[in-house]
Amino acid sequence: MIRKIALFFGVVFFFMFLSLRGQQHATLQLIPYPQKLTLGEGSFFSESPEVVFSGVSSEEAGILMNELHSSWQTISRKKKLPERDVIVLRKIRDEKGAVSGSYELEIRPEKIIITANSDEGLFYGVQTLNQIMASCKRKALPCLKIEDSPRFPYRGLHLDVSRHFFDAGFIKKQMDVIASYKLNRFHWHLTDGAGWRIEVKKYPLLTEVAAWRPVPTWKEWWQGDRHYCQKDTPGAYGGFYTRKDIKDVLEYARSKHITVIPEIEMPGHSEEVLAVYPELSCSGEPYKNAEFCIGNDNTFKFLETILDEVISLFPSKYIHIGGDEANKEAWKKCPKCQQRMRDEGLKNVDELQSYLVHRIEKYLNSKGRELLGWDEILDGGLSPNATVMSWRGEKGGIQAVRMGHDAIMTPGEYCYFDTYQDNPFGEPEAIGGYLPMKKVYSYNPVSDSLTVEESKHILGVQANTWAEYMPSGKHVEYMIYPRLLALSEVAWTDPDNKSWDRFRLAANKHVAWLWKRGVNAHPIAKGVNMLQFVDTLNREVRVSFECDRVPTEIRYTLDGSEPGLQSALYATPLSVKDSAVITVALFGDRKQLTRSQKYKVYYHKGVGAKVTYNLPYSDHYIAAREKALTDGYTGGNSYGDGKWQGFSGDMDCIIDLGKITDVHTIEANFMQQPGPWIWFPEWTEIWVSDDGKEYIRLNRIDNTVSRDTEGMMIRNFGYNGDDIKTRYIRYKAHQIPKDGAYMFIDEINIR
Ligand code: ACM
Repeated sequence: MIRKIALFFGVVFFFMFLSLRGQQHATLQLIPYPQKLTLGEGSFFSESPEVVFSGVSSEEAGILMNELHSSWQTISRKKKLPERDVIVLRKIRDEKGAVSGSYELEIRPEKIIITANSDEGLFYGVQTLNQIMASCKRKALPCLKIEDSPRFPYRGLHLDVSRHFFDAGFIKKQMDVIASYKLNRFHWHLTDGAGWRIEVKKYPLLTEVAAWRPVPTWKEWWQGDRHYCQKDTPGAYGGFYTRKDIKDVLEYARSKHITVIPEIEMPGHSEEVLAVYPELSCSGEPYKNAEFCIGNDNTFKFLETILDEVISLFPSKYIHIGGDEANKEAWKKCPKCQQRMRDEGLKNVDELQSYLVHRIEKYLNSKGRELLGWDEILDGGLSPNATVMSWRGEKGGIQAVRMGHDAIMTPGEYCYFDTYQDNPFGEPEAIGGYLPMKKVYSYNPVSDSLTVEESKHILGVQANTWAEYMPSGKHVEYMIYPRLLALSEVAWTDPDNKSWDRFRLAANKHVAWLWKRGVNAHPIAKGVNMLQFVDTLNREVRVSFECDRVPTEIRYTLDGSEPGLQSALYATPLSVKDSAVITVALFGDRKQLTRSQKYKVYYHKGVGAKVTYNLPYSDHYIAAREKALTDGYTGGNSYGDGKWQGFSGDMDCIIDLGKITDVHTIEANFMQQPGPWIWFPEWTEIWVSDDGKEYIRLNRIDNTVSRDTEGMMIRNFGYNGDDIKTRYIRYKAHQIPKDGAYMFIDEINIR
């Protein structure tokens, strides 16, 4: 009996021990999460450890000491190995062929040992140790062993410094932060239509004029005459990096094991160059073209001079030459471009662009460098050694790796940090789109469709930060962090070791740490997200809520009142058979954390009804195709969420309810977002019919919202009035015809 009791307690203690270890494990807030972590017994504690280096140059030892300083109050370097309270940093010969950046970190009661085969690996081991220190509030550190290595060699952040200029100090600050998350590439978008940002002595107008504009914000400039001004014009906005600035940034980047990849845009996105050197454009006039004239040999002379300057400064193997979004129209009419096409046997303007990229690649290769470009460099034929940065989805990257080229994945859907990260109604204006941290985290840069061999050519992943709507460095940080933490795990951690729940908890802690470091990170989910599941079998909508901010509670009411601490606590999905108004808010620490949000949910009379389109929806935003407008789903914060259906012209469709039905409301939500040119309709009309042949017009609504209104809006256009009987409903929406403009509708709600 006693033995049984002993065994029972033994088992209980064993499980308590396991669960305590599990808890301790969970309290280590590591981002990106290491590939292998094994907890041991006991702990290491020291107020002021000694640091001993082995096989490390004195320069690198200085760098590592500097990194460790952020964690320990006092720390000193020793030559001889003390018995206790010691951190050993050991660089060893590469025996296992471990990938660059890998390291082992062991915490024992008497010492901490970080071992790596490279300086970079030791640097990352120290970053992990710093995060362990922060997790343990600088007290005892749990004994453990971490064996870690990166999933991808390329782990990048891109920043556009043309649309708004951010000084060298700001760039260095970001290096500091991104290196602590084991990112190792900084893609510096140095030139674009909104301003040239790199000093080139041979072409002084680039920095005397093309780097400056009379208005500070991009939006004002873009909506105005898009002109540049002299540097010393009162109120001139802009700036550029001198050679000294760049050398300073590069030196700093080197100490953080970051490679800086410069981007010089060509042949498009070059309005600023052609405003000051118009002879390089097809028209020969300033403010006419955004693309270089490819028929003109002076274009190549100019580009090669710029690249010489760039190569003399930047040690990076890759030079990014842009290549995106060129408007090829002017080339079709330009005699010089046409002559070039005849001389070179080029069939079309895609091949003309490809000619430029090939020629530039040859030049770069002759200088020992390699060409990197946005995925448009595939059009008209990819040059022999080029690496593709896939931004228009993954297609370009996949195509490139299938051709045996390398690719870096930066698809807009997962990697564009100029999008909203939270409910757009509570956020500062962004260019559009919706990319919450969870979606970034979910990304896998290696598509299932690739073979093992092909997938080896996916070098990695990068977040792109276009700065049109980011007028300050503070705002850039707000848009980058903490989404970049999710990306760092995408880039570093094997998919099997990823866990959204673990990461979410850690990211919440890291945001507070980032604030302490003076980084203006987004506070993670200011609101609560609603998710719907429309169950046509049971004729109900099941509604669930989620929030990335933890630990928190979601509380709600169903009577339209404000939720409080006593309101129902959300735990499992709510079922809505007909309609419901659900008001939710986030609570934590016995107080309300966010403003409440009201959601109206319907299982309406049109769910599942047949829709016939008199005019087509856009191929790009099909949502649930013919079912989209009566599938019961309302759209979320993103027009790309698969619920919103896009129209690049008018909308005109007929809904058949199957039988004569009593109806008092017919309404549809439309979205407006000026950034991506999404507008409310000019008017909508609703027509009804009993037989599908003769229709009478029920109403017409004219739009009253100006296109100048800032930010994203969702408005309801429809009929709400006396009961009518009808079987067929024709819904028409008219938009002002304009190339590239869109109208988005999520559902035609019939009650
Ligand atoms: C891009 O976003 N134009 C590369």
